[in-house]
Amino acid sequence: MRHFLTLKDYSKEEILEIIDLGLRIKADLKKGIHKEYMPKKTLAMIFEKSSTRTRVSFETGIYQLGGQGLFLSSRDIHLGRGEPVKDTARVISSMCDMVMIRTFAQGMLEEFAEYSDVPVINGLTDSFHPVQLLADYMTMIEHGHAENPVVAYVGDGNNMTHSWLLLAAKLGFELRVATPKGYGPDAAVVAQAEAIAEESGAVIRIGNDPEAAIAGATVVTTDTWASMGQEGEKEERIRAFQGYIVDDAKMALAAEDAIFLHCLPAYRGQEVSESVLEGPQSVVFDEAENRLHAQKGLMVWLDRQR
Ligand code: CP
Ligand code: NVA
Repeated sequence: MRHFLTLKDYSKEEILEIIDLGLRIKADLKKGIHKEYMPKKTLAMIFEKSSTRTRVSFETGIYQLGGQGLFLSSRDIHLGRGEPVKDTARVISSMCDMVMIRTFAQGMLEEFAEYSDVPVINGLTDSFHPVQLLADYMTMIEHGHAENPVVAYVGDGNNMTHSWLLLAAKLGFELRVATPKGYGPDAAVVAQAEAIAEESGAVIRIGNDPEAAIAGATVVTTDTWASMGQEGEKEERIRAFQGYIVDDAKMALAAEDAIFLHCLPAYRGQEVSESVLEGPQSVVFDEAENRLHAQKGLMVWLDRQR
């Protein structure tokens, strides 16, 4: 049995296999073919943070696979009022076939997985957002941008940055990260990615110059400057991130056919301009839709490992 907690635990071949499975299930769906890969299986979805895409894609995905999703807000289950993670994990995994968790600490997810009898999927933590990267890479494949990409990530060194670092390291492509000083990615994750990159041939660059990062890039991406849980720092962050907006002037430095990705939700006028988000290079709504397809691939793949 496998869990999906971070991309670090997955090989390049496994990541590509999951995305390929998602693409095949997507192609069938578009032709009106519904194969029930997971009949009568249940996916428990524990949310300790808000969500639009993650909830809708997982709940729709498990239903389309022949199963049923259970939306469990931590406010509604006893976890939110002190029932231990290890007890919750044993109870839920004794009844459900898979669990998706969106929470704060990666450690909570790891503890849950340790006590769970069924696969646990990371639906976002403060540290990582690996399911988003499956959808992002699927979108790069579909738009013809998966061959030797040069990806520029501009903005906050957060859970998305960490996941991009691991994806680049595993798949062996070039990733340039540009954040304001003091807002860079976690040094331990950078070290982890650099160690993996030594074997895969990935090129990882960490810096503070957004223009230099974007120059010639084939994929440009960013994320909110204040992640969930950082609402109190919003004003201070907006000040610190001045100059880091991905706007038309910055996009003009990228490769002519570069695409723009954003996991969403986006804050127009902060990390990205309205013109870039709604412009011809933006593929953010294909990317959002691919959450459904990539995660269906992931759920079927994990189910087959059991
Ligand atoms: N990108 C993403 O995970 O969106 P939600 O927060 O809406 O789930
Ligand atoms: N970095 C953002 C991603 C939202 C999908 C957050 O954690 O809030």
